[in-house]
Parts: sequence; C-alpha cells; structure tokens
Amino acid sequence: MSNDRLDIQGLGKAFGTVQVLRDVNFRLRAGTVHAICGENGAGKSTLMKILAGNFPADSGQMFLEGRPYAPANPAEAIRAGIAMIYQELDLAEHLTVAENIFLGQERTASRWKFRLDNNAMTQETQELISRFGFPLTADAVIGDLSVAQAQMVEILKALHQNAKILVMDEPTSALSQTEAAQLFTIIHRFREEGLAIIYISHRMEEIMDLADEVSVLRDGEMVWHAPIGDCTVETIIRHMVGRELVDFYPKRNAKIGDVLFAVENLCDHEKIADVSFQVRRGEVVGLGGLVGAGRTEVANAIFGVSKHISGRITMQGKDLKIHSPADAIRARIAYLTEDRKRTGLCTALPCSWNITLPNLDHIGMARILSLKKELEQSRKEGERVHVRWASPEDAADTLSGGNQQKLLLARWLMAESDFLIFDEPTRGIDVGAKKDIYLLLNELAEAGKGLLVISSELPELFGVCDRILVMREGRLTANLQTKDTTPEDVMRHATI
Ligand SMILES: Nc1ncnc2c1ncn2[C@@H]1O[C@H](COP(=O)(O)OP(=O)(O)OP(=O)(O)O)[C@@H](O)[C@H]1O
Ligand SMILES: [Mg+2]
Repeated sequence: MSNDRLDIQGLGKAFGTVQVLRDVNFRLRAGTVHAICGENGAGKSTLMKILAGNFPADSGQMFLEGRPYAPANPAEAIRAGIAMIYQELDLAEHLTVAENIFLGQERTASRWKFRLDNNAMTQETQELISRFGFPLTADAVIGDLSVAQAQMVEILKALHQNAKILVMDEPTSALSQTEAAQLFTIIHRFREEGLAIIYISHRMEEIMDLADEVSVLRDGEMVWHAPIGDCTVETIIRHMVGRELVDFYPKRNAKIGDVLFAVENLCDHEKIADVSFQVRRGEVVGLGGLVGAGRTEVANAIFGVSKHISGRITMQGKDLKIHSPADAIRARIAYLTEDRKRTGLCTALPCSWNITLPNLDHIGMARILSLKKELEQSRKEGERVHVRWASPEDAADTLSGGNQQKLLLARWLMAESDFLIFDEPTRGIDVGAKKDIYLLLNELAEAGKGLLVISSELPELFGVCDRILVMREGRLTANLQTKDTTPEDVMRHATI
C-alpha cells in the first residue's frame, strides 16, 4: 500500500460527446503543495469537482489514504476531509460572513436545540478571521464585500472544516499581491501541519514559489509530472501549451493621437474623489493600486453604474451625460467588469447571447433580430478570442472559467466602442491565451481606440500600458510614463 494521501488512477470523464478527462493518474502526498497547471479548458476544475463529489467519473478509481474513495455528493466529500475552494465564488450573497462559514453546520444553543447560537458562531468566526489577519468582520453581509474579501470568506470556510486535503482552484485570481502573500503564509503553515494541498493557478511565479510538485494537464491528459526542483517556468509552459512562448508582451505600433476621453474631478461621494485624467487615441492607460483603492469605482462611475456622480466626462471634447450603463454603451464606451459572475455573464443563457447582449443594435435590420446572423456573429467574435466551446449555443456555464472570461471579451470587442475599460482582463486566463489578449489590446489601440486597463498584476501593467495611473484611497496619486518608471515607483505611490 502506498502512503499517498490521494491516489487517482485511470480517471475518465466526458460531458456529452466531449471527452474532458482521459486516463488521468495523479498522486498527492501529505505535507506537500501539488500544483496542477494547464490551459483554459484542460480539465483542471473538472478533475477537482470529481474529487469534491460534484459529479462522478465515468471510469477509473480514487483512493483516499489507501481506501477506495467515491463520494456520492459534496457533503460526503467534505466528511471525508476534502475542502474545496471553487474557482467561481459560491457564497450566499444575503447572509453574513459567519452565517456562510457555518452554513450547513450551524451551532445551536445547548438548551434550545432548534435555536441557533448566533453569538457563538459570530465569535468563532471573528477568531478565525483574526487568526489569519484578514480585513473582514464576522457580521458583514457577503453582498457588500469586494471580490477579494468574498474570496477570503471562501478560504476561511474551507479552513474551518477539518480538512485532509485542501483544494484551491485559482484562489488568488481576485487578490492583490499583498493579500496573496498573506494567503501563502497560511498555505505554508498548513503544509507544515501535514495537510495535502492541490493548488491551481495561472500565475507561474506563484507556482514556482509555493509548489513542491507540478503536474500538467493538456487536453484532459496528464502529460507531465515533476518535483519543483526540475521545473522552470519555461518547461511548465512548454508542457502546457505544447510549444515555446516568445515575446510574451507583444510590441505595439499604435500612433498616439488626440485626446479621446477625459474625466475631470470625478467623484462618487463615497469611495472616490477628484479623479481627473485623459486617454488619447491609440493609448493604453493602466490603472494600478491595491485592492480597495477605488479603481473599480472609477470604472463604475464612468459607466453609469454608480449613482450621484459629479464631475465632467467628455468624449472628443463633448460632454457626456451618463445615468446608466445603457447611456454609456450608446456613448460608445465598453466595460469588461472584474466579476464575471455578479455583473458580467448570464451563465444559464447560450454563449452566443452572452456575446451579443449589449450589441443587438448591430444585428438584424429595422430592429428585427436575425437569430441566424446573431449566431454567426458571435461564433466569429468567439473564435477571434479563441473561446473553447462545443457550440456557441451551449449555456455559458458549461465553459471553463478562463473561457467565460474570453466570452466577455468577445462581447466588448463586438460592441464597436471607442473607449474601452478592462477591469482585470486576464483574470483566470492561461499564459498562452493571455498573449492573445495582449495582442487584441494592441489591435484595438492600433485602430485608434482608447483603453483603460485595471490590473493588480504589475508585470501586466508594465507589459501592456503606455502610461500608468496609480490610485490610493480613492484618489489618483501618480501619472507615470511606463518607460520612465519602475514597479517600485508604482508600489510606492499605491501605498504611501
Ligand atoms: N457542465 C459541463 N457541461 C459541458 N461541458 C463542460 C461542463 N463543465 C466543463 N465542461 C467542459 O470541460 C472542459 C474542461 O473544463 P474545466 O473547467 O475543467 O477546465 P479548466 O482546466 O479548469 O480551465 P480554466 O483554466 O479555464 O479554469 C471545457 O472544455 C469545458 O467547456
Ligand atoms: Mg478551472
């Protein structure tokens, strides 16, 4: 008998006619962090969902500490010691942090069996929060939290169960570098305590820092496995993509022209004040800062999402009156939001509808929608960003996480906008596809559009932007030409 914590042998899984996993073998040892890498749609989340009891495999076997393991449902997997943090946040929006953490395992007061002991639950949650130093309170309602904070609640929820195996499917994609660093400290601690951790991420530096072993899935097959000592970022990528990746940040040849878009003294009377900047035609402007600095709020204010905005917004010198996203779309502004589940996709609708949703004016004649044309258009736009789908008519939630992100990109590419705001455009996107997206950003700039790119990844800001604006506590603190500045400079303006 092996002393593996988990041993997966010959696992196979198909959705309809699509074979998603093929003869997958995987071994996980106690006290280690094992990274699983692979392109969008390679099958990483599917493998983890089988482990967590969401659905069964079609073939193959799993052994947990040497014993056959085949969970019938998620509850059974939790009882067996599998703690899973899903890629898509999965919290009850209207409940508090404490209520979410205790969901399904509520404490009752000792004398009154049917009365919930809210005080005890809140207190225990608060202790858990302070143990990890997360910026949260136990009685905050999930709907009021930022994506990063909601992610932290997911982590706490998983840690609150006595887990043998902790699975993290892109836990840091919504976290800033500082918050991610906090998470890594926690992961190290858990590894020392003997937990076995499966870690999925598209951020290669993280994998090099954290993992003890790396396995690579490609098109549903485990194609490579090695101890971290034998890995470099290049070898991992080569096995993921099946080719070398050169010029990761492609060069842009856009001519920077006149001022296209400008805001003056933008203020939402809540999070942001006095924000003024301009974006020229052909220019890619980055917006950096820590999570919570107000970057998304700037985008929300411009796009008519927030109410009670003051200040001036102009396009080509003309004042815009924007009271709703519909006004913004009419003014030829596009906005890719950071939270694809809450404000982006309608996951139950077909992929094609998700692409064409704000673009219906361009399709059909005399306001009569041509469904055939719609399907054709969305197929074309989807292919442009390399969405991997069986058909554009499938529901959006049958796509892998990264491919859902590409769907949103396709939507805004189709919108024929002049000014485009991208909030964390490559979140959850694999390294190969990231490069495709950077190429698209360049194409847009070369076509004379103006771009505002919000990113928490400094290398990305430096790789794609002509200029970087930095925010701190709701205000702009710097306006830097990328070629004359350093990541340290940006961090300094973001924090001091
Ligand atoms: N419920 C489903 N119905 C049909 N197809 C599905 C379903 N869930 C996943 N798939 C398909 O299975 C494949 C693997 O998806 P999976 O989510 O495992 O990818 P992934 O490796 O996690 O990718 P990402 O890095 O984008 O998160 C994809 O082609 C996806 O479209
Ligand atoms: Mg996934």
